Amino acid sequence: MRMLIKNGRVLDPANNIDDSLDIFIEGNIIKKVAKGIKAEASAKVIDAKGKIVAPGLIDIHTHLREPGFEYKETIRTGTMAAAAGGFTAICCMPNTNPINDNRAVTEFILSKSAKEGIVNVLPIGAITKGSQGKALAEISDMVNAGCVAISDDGKGVMDAEVMRRGLEYTKAFDIPVIAHCEDANLSSGGVMNEGFASTTLGLRGIPKAAEEVMVVRDIALAELTGARLHIAHVSSAGSVESIRTAKKRGVKVTCETCPHYFTLTEDAVIGYNTNAKVNPPLRTKEDVKAIKEGLKDGTIDIIASDHAPHAVHEKEIEFDYASFGMIGLETSLPLILNLVREGVLTLKDAIAKATINPARLLKLKKGTLSEGADADITIIDPESEWVVDVNNLKSKSKNTAFAGMKMKGRAVMTIVGGKIVYETGDIK
Ligand code: DOR
Repeated sequence: MRMLIKNGRVLDPANNIDDSLDIFIEGNIIKKVAKGIKAEASAKVIDAKGKIVAPGLIDIHTHLREPGFEYKETIRTGTMAAAAGGFTAICCMPNTNPINDNRAVTEFILSKSAKEGIVNVLPIGAITKGSQGKALAEISDMVNAGCVAISDDGKGVMDAEVMRRGLEYTKAFDIPVIAHCEDANLSSGGVMNEGFASTTLGLRGIPKAAEEVMVVRDIALAELTGARLHIAHVSSAGSVESIRTAKKRGVKVTCETCPHYFTLTEDAVIGYNTNAKVNPPLRTKEDVKAIKEGLKDGTIDIIASDHAPHAVHEKEIEFDYASFGMIGLETSLPLILNLVREGVLTLKDAIAKATINPARLLKLKKGTLSEGADADITIIDPESEWVVDVNNLKSKSKNTAFAGMKMKGRAVMTIVGGKIVYETGDIK
């Protein structure tokens, strides 16, 4: 298949390109990026006038729920949601059932994704067996089978010695350890941020320190081991500051935040809105400000969705019993674009945090529109206004705190390996 994308605003942060250019795709590869490429008779021509043509978005923090929790999401529906949100590659967290802590589960995810997935799926293996925090998982086996990182996401690794060994062990494979920073003793029983709102709602709070002490500990362990530490879903000002100073000292630490942490505050929980129950919890407006500053000055390298689907019966219950998490693949892009409209990020930096930066973290040959690169491309209409209607989402689950909200900007076409997988509302 040959394809020519014409007249778009091509944005390729990796090559410092922001220009009106055409892109010629042959098979699954980008063949040429230049001005005024002539259409060959056999090529499908796509007019991208008024649109942004970006490298396919990469999400390094998705929960696909398969195997084990197919009633929440499957590899099929999760990759459909990804395509609709403009993502061409997603990394799936290991908290499935069984947990992805061995080669068999990794191979299952990859073979199922090859058959049923419509975007690239890159598994993340567990750090410890069963994510129990006790003994290291079969990391070497999982990396050889295709895992791109390890994480016990959903839980902190409470034993610092185990975390140290995990970090040390990964040095042989040059993969990052993705840390879910949470001290389970400090957060125990908590369901939202600890503060004024939790007090007025009568809900048990999770102090920011539950995240911040683990961020500091893991930075110390990264410094001790020289391993690559990546901190997941940063939500608090204190975490941003610790990461900033660690980076200045030369520690190999990177981090991500998620759209809900720079868009919402703990006030979203008022009314006992279980869709705003996430872990780490939504924080205060001072934290949101600090997250934005961290994004702006480069302390926060990556924006990830933390797409965490849950079924209706897991959310439409008492706040204390509801599951943590919200879906995010289909709302991330407009919320990232809000940062550009607010002047927090340039468009180039915003796109970089969802393309080349995650690709570099995981050493993927993706995230760029270079000639010879995989033809994974997202065409974005930055002006398209729409309202989040959960019935129109491709995800199997509907747990979003953004339901009914106005969004601006969306993917109008998602191309994976030279094939159109999504176009204006429809999976192809
Ligand atoms: O809110 C969350 N949901 N945070 C996590 O760390 C895990 C996730 C899930 O798996 O549902």
